[in-house]
Amino acid sequence: MKPDSQNVTDYTNNNTIFMVWNFNNDLDVKDVFSNVCKLIINLNNSANVRFPVSRASCVMGIGYEAWLRLQLPAPLPKELANFVPITGGKHTAVSSKGDLHFHIRADTTSICYDMAEAIADILAPVATCTEEIHGFRYWDSRSILGFVDGTENPHGQDRELFGMIGDDDPDYKGGSYLFVQKYIHDLKAWKNLPTEQQEKVIGRYKPNDIEMSDEVKPSNSHIALANVGDDFKIVRDNMPFGNMATNDMGTYFIAYASTFSTVQKMLTNMFIGSPAGNYDRILDFSTAKTGSLFYVPTFDMLDDFS
Ligand code: HEM
Repeated sequence: MKPDSQNVTDYTNNNTIFMVWNFNNDLDVKDVFSNVCKLIINLNNSANVRFPVSRASCVMGIGYEAWLRLQLPAPLPKELANFVPITGGKHTAVSSKGDLHFHIRADTTSICYDMAEAIADILAPVATCTEEIHGFRYWDSRSILGFVDGTENPHGQDRELFGMIGDDDPDYKGGSYLFVQKYIHDLKAWKNLPTEQQEKVIGRYKPNDIEMSDEVKPSNSHIALANVGDDFKIVRDNMPFGNMATNDMGTYFIAYASTFSTVQKMLTNMFIGSPAGNYDRILDFSTAKTGSLFYVPTFDMLDDFS
């Protein structure tokens, strides 16, 4: 991780809280925003000193509308815009409002909770938390669908290359595009599918996480469509979540990327299909309920904003 960048390149941790906050109308939010920027710097520095082995961090992203409302620098990060829904023949990647996004990671829930509470204390007078998901590490990093999630993520220095903005947008270098979607799974239908069929949906074998050969892997499997080439990768930090009372079992999809267009390519392949109509079979068991794009500033920028 570059010293000045927020923690966009680290691997998933045991516990995560994701929060989306939207500013309330007709309020002056600038002072509060400046305090939140200070807090994020403080929380990360403090976590490094207090809990060095927990790999705790809190990453904040800023949405397009918030950027304008807060009168942050122009020109904007090149690809920062409201996410435009992607509508396929059967499934849609919906767009939802998001002013600020927080991705809190630690090895214990206590650290995550304290960070979330500190953020809420500052934001609550002028903003509303519209999404809060508590993600957890499920066994050997499996999604709630039972398949290991994250295997083909970039490793080592490739995480910076694919996860952070580089020289093509010098003013925003070291920052990152953050895209999130909350998926709810139809676990009943999924569990009714025999394991061999589930494996064809993903494109990998379930117990050992081995990829199917190209001859066996269906063209509408998730990994056949999400893989858009070796030069186009993203850093995924998905976490599963589950709530027995509401029966909301899902995957919080989260990606950091050097360019948003890479994420868009993947989404287009998944939702429209490649060729069109050959859409990602995972979507027959997974519904995208939200979808928002953010820019993640460097610590230097957060310092300027504060
Ligand atoms: C329904 C939510 C999702 C679930 C449960 C899910 C799960 C998985 C699993 C189990 C794998 C195989 C292991 C791995 O390499 O990580 C995978 C691979 C991958 N997924 Fe997803 N995923 C979801 C949504 C998405 C979305 C929305 C995108 C892109 C916008 C995406 C992009 C990828 C990519 C790039 C790979 C690696 C493909 C390869 O090169 O083999 N996934 N996903």
